[in-house]
Amino acid sequence: MTQQHLPALVIGNWKMNGSLTANTALLESLRRDIASFGHVNVSVCPPFPYLAHSVALLAKSPISCTAQNLCHEAVGAYTGEVSASMLADVGCRYVLAGHSERRGLFGDSSERVAAKARQALNAGLTPIVCVGETLAQREIGLTEATLAAQLLPTLAGLSIADLEKVVLAYEPVWAIGTGHVATAQQITSVLRYLRQLVADTTGADKVARAMPVLYGGSVNPTSAVWLAQLPEVSGVLVGGAALKAEDFSEICRSFGQR
Ligand code: PGA
Repeated sequence: MTQQHLPALVIGNWKMNGSLTANTALLESLRRDIASFGHVNVSVCPPFPYLAHSVALLAKSPISCTAQNLCHEAVGAYTGEVSASMLADVGCRYVLAGHSERRGLFGDSSERVAAKARQALNAGLTPIVCVGETLAQREIGLTEATLAAQLLPTLAGLSIADLEKVVLAYEPVWAIGTGHVATAQQITSVLRYLRQLVADTTGADKVARAMPVLYGGSVNPTSAVWLAQLPEVSGVLVGGAALKAEDFSEICRSFGQR
């Protein structure tokens, strides 16, 4: 099962980094470089307090904003949480759900990730649902079972029309922030598996084929060159390298000119 060809999606996940000054410099640099990117869909994920500021700085530019997380409920007494409708209100286009740091450090279960994806869709945001196995799970042959367990609760709550608005991101936990990019063979095999899982679970073959599936984990300008050549890879979710304007621009160019 191969994907249909849309412009690649390159997302820069800033995680808990940045300041008004640093974000302004980074976004101004990206705005200067954008003409060189080519045909690519670029988005950045600032921390919550900076979203509105980043959206304003990116006004009239094709670069969008993605939130890093959202609440699994729509509104109410959830101190410290941020709802999907608030994110849409300040101008976000996408939101991450189930990043491995949320799952591992903050206890986001796969059921909670499913609820977050549901809230995102209800508010008109595109959820980027992240899945990935640990090294221990890979080493004992549990990669596919782990990914299925992470994704099936989300798939269970979605109609075919919803599915058309979902992006998946495969981020092996062992590749995040480690400098160890998964191999082309590992990525291709998992991305094919994920599309097949979506098709088998939902019966929506065409939607599964067209579904954008990103790779994330230690992507840098060097690996982006070969990652952009893999037909199954619809784009990348970039962490560390997204904080360096030159590196992030180079990654965008690799995908924009593939
Ligand atoms: P990394 O992070 O590129 O620094 O490995 C990726 C991510 O966590 O999304």
